[in-house]
Amino acid sequence: MPPTISRIIQALEPSATMAMAAKAKELKAAGKTVYDFSLGEPDFTTPEHICTAATDAMKAGHTHYTAAPGILELRTAVARQYHDRHGLEYGPQQVVVSNGAKHSLHNVFTVLCNPGDEVIIPAPYWVSYAELVKLTGAVPVIVDTDEANDFKLTPEQLRAAITDKTTILLVCSPSNPTGSMYAPDELAALADVVIERDLTVVSDEIYERLVYGDRKFASFATVRPGMQERTIIVNGASKAYAMTGWRIGWTLSPVKIAAAMSNLQSQETSNPSSISQYAAIAAIEGPQTCVEDMLAEFTKRREFVRKRIASIDGLSCPDMAGAFYAFVNVKPHLKRSYQGEQVDNSSQWCLALLEQQNVATVMGSAFGAEGYARISFATSMDILSQGFDRIEAFLNSGK
Ligand SMILES: Cc1ncc(COP(=O)(O)O)c(C=O)c1O
Repeated sequence: MPPTISRIIQALEPSATMAMAAKAKELKAAGKTVYDFSLGEPDFTTPEHICTAATDAMKAGHTHYTAAPGILELRTAVARQYHDRHGLEYGPQQVVVSNGAKHSLHNVFTVLCNPGDEVIIPAPYWVSYAELVKLTGAVPVIVDTDEANDFKLTPEQLRAAITDKTTILLVCSPSNPTGSMYAPDELAALADVVIERDLTVVSDEIYERLVYGDRKFASFATVRPGMQERTIIVNGASKAYAMTGWRIGWTLSPVKIAAAMSNLQSQETSNPSSISQYAAIAAIEGPQTCVEDMLAEFTKRREFVRKRIASIDGLSCPDMAGAFYAFVNVKPHLKRSYQGEQVDNSSQWCLALLEQQNVATVMGSAFGAEGYARISFATSMDILSQGFDRIEAFLNSGK
């Protein structure tokens, strides 16, 4: 019999953000200038002192297997960082370092989910959550949220989605794709339902360092007594330190869950790259001015993007509290024709914008929210400025 693909893998959706980035790359390779707003990673290169730590590690012979959950020094540094920034007490045995936060999420769901369990995922959601849940045989339960509430799940919406099969609530704050962030009291109100219904929270805090103005980030584990014991925090080096290619993410969790994830990881991938781990120590323990500098640059771009969106008739987006995305409502610009091309949904809108103006964005439908487009401002001011001129020209051409 010829090889066949398993039913579980056949049911996986390809990553739409990566598909859009690939299409943009194709146009670039054909010599076109692409105004690429589809990126989910900082456009900065990794700060120099972090790169130096990596080459130093190589020269010092740190080129071997490490402990499966990562070297003690890095796990201790991660625990210390959560203590210093959020007042949470964790020991290194509660930290598991993996090949990026995406891998951490895979570990979490694989360790916690049984087939048939329900995992509540508020929409719009980051593209991989539902697919990673499906891989375990558990069921992602997508709960729509309202733009009027900056796409934040309310306790009522959470309560209505819970069944006797629900085991996990997933929360991403600040959010990819919406950029919105829960206030501490909003998380506390969700925590009350979580505690009452005896759920576990998976809290994706990867954009925690990229928060704008005087808004204050709160870790889900801190918002009510007892929440730390029922929360698995996912975080990593990718976004805060411009280290997406190094593949370092981590979890902080109760010891029993950390031990199970370490066991899983030891069988699946062993340790994440030893060299990247040493680089991550330099990132966490070294000067944080690099994070501040990147945040200052993102802040300027965010302000520019916010103003441009507000100035274009029929475009709007929720409060961009954190991360580097604007989640733009394009509904008033659908069901129109652009240079003879009929555009009825967000996918057609994004494709027409790419084909006609070389501007790459990602359709809201990829994040479970039809009628929106995600614009990443992890790109230069120059590209942003020219790209927005092109978006405006595109919208003006719609009839
Ligand atoms: C919300 C969110 N979680 C996790 C990840 C994965 O990060 P990593 O590159 O560390 O795997 C991403 C990357 O885009 C993300 O946006």
